[in-house]
Amino acid sequence: MRDKLQEIKTAALESLAEAADLEQLEKLRVKYLGKKGELTQVLRGMGKLSPEERPVIGQLANEVRDIIEQELQSKREELEKTAQQKKLEQERIDVTMPGRRFTRGTRHPLYQVLDEIKHIFRGLGFAVAEGPEIELDYYNFEALNIPKDHPARDMQDSFYITEEVLLRTHTSPVQVRTMEKKRPELPIRIIAPGKVYRRDDDATHSPMFHQVEGLLVDERVTFGDLKGTLLTFARQMFGQEHKIRLRPSYFPFTEPSAEVDISCVNCGGSGCRVCSHTGWLEILGSGMVHPKVLEMAGYDPEKVSGFAFGMGVERIAMLKYGIDDLRLLFDNDLRFLQQF
Ligand code: DAH
Repeated sequence: MRDKLQEIKTAALESLAEAADLEQLEKLRVKYLGKKGELTQVLRGMGKLSPEERPVIGQLANEVRDIIEQELQSKREELEKTAQQKKLEQERIDVTMPGRRFTRGTRHPLYQVLDEIKHIFRGLGFAVAEGPEIELDYYNFEALNIPKDHPARDMQDSFYITEEVLLRTHTSPVQVRTMEKKRPELPIRIIAPGKVYRRDDDATHSPMFHQVEGLLVDERVTFGDLKGTLLTFARQMFGQEHKIRLRPSYFPFTEPSAEVDISCVNCGGSGCRVCSHTGWLEILGSGMVHPKVLEMAGYDPEKVSGFAFGMGVERIAMLKYGIDDLRLLFDNDLRFLQQF
């Protein structure tokens, strides 16, 4: 039995020294010290020994076990260290490598233009007003002198929630809401930017688009004030060299009404494809606030007058940046957006 123990010790130490990884080491532990391990077997057989031999062999067996355990432990530490070292070498972090780049977003071109429009009108003394996108038929049409069967409704079909509630088709209802709120205060001088909705969808029309409404109400407001304001706006927006032209038009909520053109941003007025060889580009609708509209909003049309205008932000942006398809503004293609 003494020899057997010696044998086990020698064999165990030898194979431990050769163990190449933690997995092998664990197998060796089971082989010698496990429940069915070689050393354990020997200890089990101790019962057969004489009472004199038992303590001697017992002590020897304990010594062998301690030695093997110690050796196992130090080998384990060694192998763990190597394993970690290897891992560190494989996963080396090079702190001098360039970091992952954060790309900074930019403001959408449409909102850059909208900011610019606001900036220009703020400079002219206009405040920014807002109104709801889900609007009452009353404000969207009725109070703007567009009664139920008026043909002007045909051009502005919308998304109806009920017969009396719809997604607003223009920002003009903010005119009425503002007048109702401010009355009898004067002057009223606001622009109302925001989203509007129509049952339209093609290369030049989107079911959702943006408008900026303008409204000025005071005593003795003239058509000349309207013209001067719009000329100042057009020149600040597109460049001082530009001219504007007013063409007679019709809107139920203004009288007289005018469509406003700007000299072509592409050819300067000599005529090209962009302006269909007219030299002019239409940029907005405008006019003197209709007496009926003033009256419905609670003002006396005999004492006050006003002008109003409404422009499409998409159209302004397309002209300013030479964008030929409206849908580019809503595709969210970075190759397009990054150009602004
Ligand atoms: N609301 C009109 C539209 O969407 C645009 C407009 C025209 C607004 C004339 C005005 C205006 O304030 O005076 O077609």
